[in-house]
This record gives sequence, structure tokens and C-alpha cells, in this order.
Amino acid sequence: MVTTEVWSGKRVFLTGHTGFKGSWMALWLKAMGAEVLGYSLPAPTKPSMFELAAVGDAVTSVVGDVRDLEKLTSEMTRFRPEVVFHLAAQSLVRPSYRDPVETFSTNVMGTVHVLEAIRRAPSIKAAVMVTSDKCYENNEWAWGYRESDPMGGYDPYSNSKGCAELVTSSYRRSFFSASTSDTAHPAVASARAGNVIGGGDFSLDRLVPDFMRAMSAGEPVRIRNPGAQRPWQHVLEPLCGYITLAERLLQPDGQNFATGWNFGPRDEDAIHVESLVQKFVGLWGAGAKYSVDASPQPHEATYLKLDTSRARALLGWKTHLGVESAIDWTVEWHKACSSGLAMRELTESQITRFSAMRTR
Ligand SMILES: NC(=O)c1ccc[n+]([C@@H]2O[C@H](COP(=O)([O-])OP(=O)(O)OC[C@H]3O[C@@H](n4cnc5c(N)ncnc54)[C@H](O)[C@@H]3O)[C@@H](O)[C@H]2O)c1
Repeated sequence: MVTTEVWSGKRVFLTGHTGFKGSWMALWLKAMGAEVLGYSLPAPTKPSMFELAAVGDAVTSVVGDVRDLEKLTSEMTRFRPEVVFHLAAQSLVRPSYRDPVETFSTNVMGTVHVLEAIRRAPSIKAAVMVTSDKCYENNEWAWGYRESDPMGGYDPYSNSKGCAELVTSSYRRSFFSASTSDTAHPAVASARAGNVIGGGDFSLDRLVPDFMRAMSAGEPVRIRNPGAQRPWQHVLEPLCGYITLAERLLQPDGQNFATGWNFGPRDEDAIHVESLVQKFVGLWGAGAKYSVDASPQPHEATYLKLDTSRARALLGWKTHLGVESAIDWTVEWHKACSSGLAMRELTESQITRFSAMRTR
């Protein structure tokens, strides 16, 4: 349950604020009155949600690399945050095949550095480390993966997220638990979510951004793996999970919640890639088309379902927008964007609408 009062005046250190999810997160936290310092490399895409929604005007924005431990520590210590959200990452599977070293150094050593900076910053009470549903060893099970299932990952991206989980667990047990010293420790949890959609994603090699680029160019979008079933969730759903989790970690018994958590879509929100694209084509209207790319593709793990029973039972988290509304909101955002509107207002309006749904 996200509570505005908790965030009003709260100092929050957010990595990855120039990215897709990080931009939404920055604006949501800001809307609740938090004082946010974002620490990231420049926006990974052009155009970007960060620029279109003027996120840099809403938060203090520091350009920095999570692989630079000294700078990261100095910025975190100086800002004196109470809460850290770590979202910065090389976030895509296909580039991880092209440059595994970059992926592992950012996602694994970057996570080590964020945890080490947290260890050195006494102001911090809670931290949420964002990984992915892909952190689990994919056994091609039809049932949902639980938080206690083994970490793994075939491709470098997925594996780096499994490693980030193990690193977080090691730091938690070695440095952030009651048995490690008498002083108070930050409660550090990790959050695993799957594919998200929403306005403002311009990444290469993701279906929705590929669709939006093709529409702007007046071309049919080429889809790989049309029959692959994937879960789809609006970006605000896992962000709601991360914020709810941080609120719980801030409570006096927060250490009991300092574990890994799944924030995935409902079963009925898993649909085939082709069905998703057909829905986008229908909503976009005139000129929207798609074609199937039959060329060989690198291995991508098949559908990995998250069991979210624990987050629902213990955090009271749940999904608010089904896949249909998630698609509607995404098309609404990108249509407004392609007609040249400033995107801050619509982004904030979607955040307000989402928040209103949660209180109903
Ligand atoms: N978008 C999804 O569908 C999805 C699904 C599961 C998990 N995730 C995870 O959520 C997080 C955010 O994803 P996103 O979609 O916003 O990604 P994104 O690629 O849009 O943004 C990544 C952010 O990390 C920053 N970054 C990259 N390398 C960095 C470095 N070395 N130092 C500092 N900053 C660096 C970028 O500048 C950007 O701000 C990531 O950890 C990602 O793995 C995303």
C-alpha cells in the first residue's frame, strides 16, 4: 500500500533515474513529496522518457557510473538518504550477448558497489535492489517461480541478475543483519518483476518500443517469436511493489521483510506476442501493420511465471491494471508523444489515475 505521507520530505537515492522505469519512479516519488537524488549514466536512448517528461527538472540529477565506487559512495553519503532504490543496469538480453563484460560489470559489480556505498552511508534505513524475473534458473516449469527457488540464468543478462541477487543476499547476511553487530542496519530487499510496458520506453530490442518506432516511420513492425507467450504488466505495477516494499522495510520490524520479492503479472495477463501486437495495431489505427521476422534468433528463455502469493499476502500488493488497460495507457502516452505534447503532464496524470485506483 503506497502511502503519500511516508514519502513526503523523505530523502531517496535512486539509481537508473534516466532510464524507462527510473523516470517513472522519479516522478512518482516526487509527486508524493520525496526529495530525490538520481544517480545514473545519461539516458540510454534518444528520445528518452527522461527528456520528454523533463525528469531532470523534478529531481537532483547526478551523472555517474555505478562502477565508480568512490563517486557513488561520496554522492550517497553527502545526500544522506533514508531510502535507496537501485534500478541502474544494462537491462537488455540481446546486448548482453554482444557485450557480456559490460553487462556483468554493470549489473554485478554495480550492485556490489551500491551495497558497499549503503554500508558506508549511516543515514540509510531501507534499500530495494531491483533485479528481474530472469534471475531464476529457468526450468521451463508451467507453474510460478517462488522467491525460494534457485537463482540461475542462461544468457549473460539473466545470469547477471541472478548474480545480483546472490550478492545482495551475501551483503545482507554478512553486513546488514542483527547478528553482524549491535548497531542498527538498513533493511535491504530485492525485487523481481518481469516484462513491463508503458509510455516512454524507447529501448532497442523491446517489442513495444519497436512497435512505436515502426509507427513513427510508417513501416510495419517486424515481430520475432509471434507464438511466444509472455506476461505483460504496466510499469506502474512493479514500481508500486518496490515502493510498498520500501515502506514495509522502513517500519520497526522491517528486517523481517528484507528478502527477495516477486512482483509479476496475473496469469490472465500473459498473452502471445502476436496477440499483443494485434491489440496495439487495433488501437493505433490508420496505417498500423506488422510482419513476422522468421530469421534465426539467439536463445531467449521461455516464459517464466512469477508466483506473487507472498507479496500479495504479506505486503498487500496486487495488480491494478490488466493487460488491456496497460496497452491502452501505453498507446495513449505514445500517441500524445507523437503529436508533440510535453509528456510530463500526461505521465503525472497516469500516476494520479493509478494511485486513485489503488485507494478504491
Ligand atoms: N523494463 C523491463 O521490462 C524490466 C523487466 C525486468 C527487470 N527490469 C530491471 O529494472 C531496472 C530498470 O529497467 P529499465 O527498463 O528502466 O532500464 P533502462 O535501460 O531504461 O534504464 C537503465 C538505467 O540504468 C542506467 N545505467 C546503465 N548502466 C549504468 C552504469 N554503469 N552506471 C550508472 N547507471 C547506469 C541508465 O543510464 C539508465 O538510467 C533494471 O535493473 C532492469 O534490469 C526491467
